[in-house]
Amino acid sequence: MSRIAYVNGRYLPHQEAGIHIEDRGYQFADGVYEVCEVRHGHLIEERRHLDRLDRSLRELRIPAPMSRTALGLVLKEVVRRNGVINGSVYLQVTRGVARREHVFPAPDTPPSLVVTARRANPATQEATALHGVAVISVPENRWPRVDIKSLSLLPNVLAKQAAKEAGAREAWFVDTDGYVTEGASSNAWIVTRGGAIVTRPAEAGILRGITRTVVVEVAHELGYQLEERPFTLAEAREAAEAFITAASTLVMPVVTLDGSPIGAGHPGPVATALRQRFHDFAEVTA
Ligand code: PDD
Repeated sequence: MSRIAYVNGRYLPHQEAGIHIEDRGYQFADGVYEVCEVRHGHLIEERRHLDRLDRSLRELRIPAPMSRTALGLVLKEVVRRNGVINGSVYLQVTRGVARREHVFPAPDTPPSLVVTARRANPATQEATALHGVAVISVPENRWPRVDIKSLSLLPNVLAKQAAKEAGAREAWFVDTDGYVTEGASSNAWIVTRGGAIVTRPAEAGILRGITRTVVVEVAHELGYQLEERPFTLAEAREAAEAFITAASTLVMPVVTLDGSPIGAGHPGPVATALRQRFHDFAEVTA
C-alpha cells in the first residue's frame, strides 16, 4: 500500500506531498505538532493529544486549522488510507504561508495542517523493551517554554544525534543544578532503591507527556509509591531502575546511563509492569 499524506485539505501520495517554501513552519519552526499512537487500528489517547494541541496553539496564538471533530476525522482517514494497524499518526500545524517577516502574518492567513501516519512493528518494539535502551546525559540548552510541543527541536535533534553517536537511544537533558529535566523526545523516570517511582513535575521545564499522564494513573492503580519531584543525575546513577515514556516508545526501560549500568543493568520489574499494563488504562478512540 502506497503512503498517503494529508496536506491542507488534500490527500496526496507521500512522494508528492509538499508545502510552500514560505510556510512559517519551514522558515521559522513557527508551529506545533503531536504524535499519537495507533494500536489495533485505533488512536490511543486522542482526546488528551488534541487537548494538548489546543493548548500549544493557544500559547503561540496560532488559530486552529479546523474543528476538533474534523481533525479527528482527518487523523482516522490518514490512518485508514495508509493501512496502519500499529504505528503512529503525526500532525503538525504552522502559522501558515506568508512573505518572510518575523511578525505574525495577516490574521486571515490560514494555518497549515499536515498529517502523516507510519507503521511500527510491535514485535521489534517488544524486543527492544526486553533488552532496554542506553541513555546519555547532555546539558539542558532549550528555551524555557518546552511545555509547548513546538516544531522548534534543534537542541533535541543535536542531543539525539549525540546519543546515537554514543550508541545510545536517548539523551537526558540535565539543568545547571544537576537535575534531569527530560529526554530529547521522552519523559524521564527513575525507581529508587526504596521502590519509589520518581518523575519531574510537569508544571515547568518539561513537556507534559500524554504517556506520562497515563503512567501516573497506572502507577497509582498498581499501588506504587509515586513522587513527582525533580531528581538529579547522581540520583539516577544510583537508581534501581530507570525508564522513559513517549507515545512512540511507551514505557521503555533504560539499562545504562552514560555507559554505566542502572541497577542490575537490565529492565526492572516496575518498568516492565508499567509497560505491560499501560494499555489497560489508556483511552482508545472507537
Ligand atoms: N515526543 N518530552 C519530549 C521533549 C517529547 O518530544 C515527547 C514526545 C515527550 C513525551 O510525550 P508523549 O508521551 O505525549 O509522547 C516528552 C514525540 C513522541 C516525538 O517528538 O516524536
